[in-house]
Amino acid sequence: MSKTVLITGGAGFIGSHLANELLERGYNVKALDNLSEQVHGKNCTRPDYLNEEVELIVGDVRDPEKVKQALKGVDAVYHYAAMVGVGQSMYQINEYTDVNNRGTAVLLEALINNPVEKLVVASSMSIYGEGLYRDKAGKISPGYERDLNHLKSGNWELMDANGDLLTPYPTPETKTPSLASVYALSKYDQERMCLMIGKAYNIPTVALRFFNVYGTNQALSNPYTGVLAIFASRLLNGNAPMIFEDGRQQRDFVSVQDIAQASRLALETKAAEYESFNVGSGNAYTVVEIAEKMARVLGKEHIEAEISGKYRVGDIRHCFADITKTKEVLGYQPRISLEEGLVELATWLEGQTAEDKVAHAKNELMTRGLTV
Ligand code: UD1
Repeated sequence: MSKTVLITGGAGFIGSHLANELLERGYNVKALDNLSEQVHGKNCTRPDYLNEEVELIVGDVRDPEKVKQALKGVDAVYHYAAMVGVGQSMYQINEYTDVNNRGTAVLLEALINNPVEKLVVASSMSIYGEGLYRDKAGKISPGYERDLNHLKSGNWELMDANGDLLTPYPTPETKTPSLASVYALSKYDQERMCLMIGKAYNIPTVALRFFNVYGTNQALSNPYTGVLAIFASRLLNGNAPMIFEDGRQQRDFVSVQDIAQASRLALETKAAEYESFNVGSGNAYTVVEIAEKMARVLGKEHIEAEISGKYRVGDIRHCFADITKTKEVLGYQPRISLEEGLVELATWLEGQTAEDKVAHAKNELMTRGLTV
């Protein structure tokens, strides 16, 4: 008999792709989702992109009754419901902590009474803070951070104690977390709480640390979403992408389809139990490169990105994934290159309308002193 899987946040960007991946493999899929306005717009109806075979339960992960109802007949759970904006988390502290941390607590209490064969939780690379760096002598170390005074004078790169420039290096799961935002703190809390309660109650649990995910179904009108969707929304409205710092900061952009692949493997791989895994592409790109590539695939090369020279509080400079462990243990192999992924995204974007609320979101950060 086919197994039934519940995805919290299953009507969202990543959840909807995961649902397709699981349905294709013969699983039954349920989704618990509150269809939040910031992601799904004012009408908050079932999104068109959500596979019609998904049984959607509209409700909040903080509501114990809804969670209990959603868990009925379920063999495995993906906990992917969360608020996701790094900048926004620095002023909506209560809301982020409530949805992310307490929401996880409510789910876990429900799971104690209704144990499942596997729990997979969406963690984030943001828990690392800065990635690893190599110094002039070739020594690779964690623990480098940026100083606000340096940032205020536009010194974006990390330096060692002698003032020598450091070179970013792929970050493995063993790097000690360094939590630079309320969002990162909440993701670490989710990850640890799931692994801890999972172990205590024999619910095999896996934490996946997602790097910068992009792809179709990403909420374009949500100004707190990932940089690629924000740039797409700006360009589609004829506006220049706004870049923080000098745009040379590096991230690991990974296709949502590869995220769906890794998520399924986490469910199906026994050796993954009680472990955390990086899910990225293993490649690093600068934010400027992303702006240029996005403009190119949208045919908007004439719109040049604006470099703001401002620092967004909570941001790190460079982090990209070492995916060795994920390849070895999960058998994960990233399949979609950034070039392919962007072309697919552009095709999807042709049929989309995006309300550009980015200037408003930027202003919200500025008035609170969260860009310097
Ligand atoms: C993102 C995700 C987070 C996820 C993490 C995993 C969102 C909102 N955040 O955080 O949920 O856990 O990846 O890696 O999806 N930038 C600009 N201009 C903009 C917006 C952003 O220059 O208009 C810059 C930022 O300053 C940052 C970089 O782009 O340097 C990436 O920002 P963002 O897309 O928000 O991603 P993360 O903060 O890495």
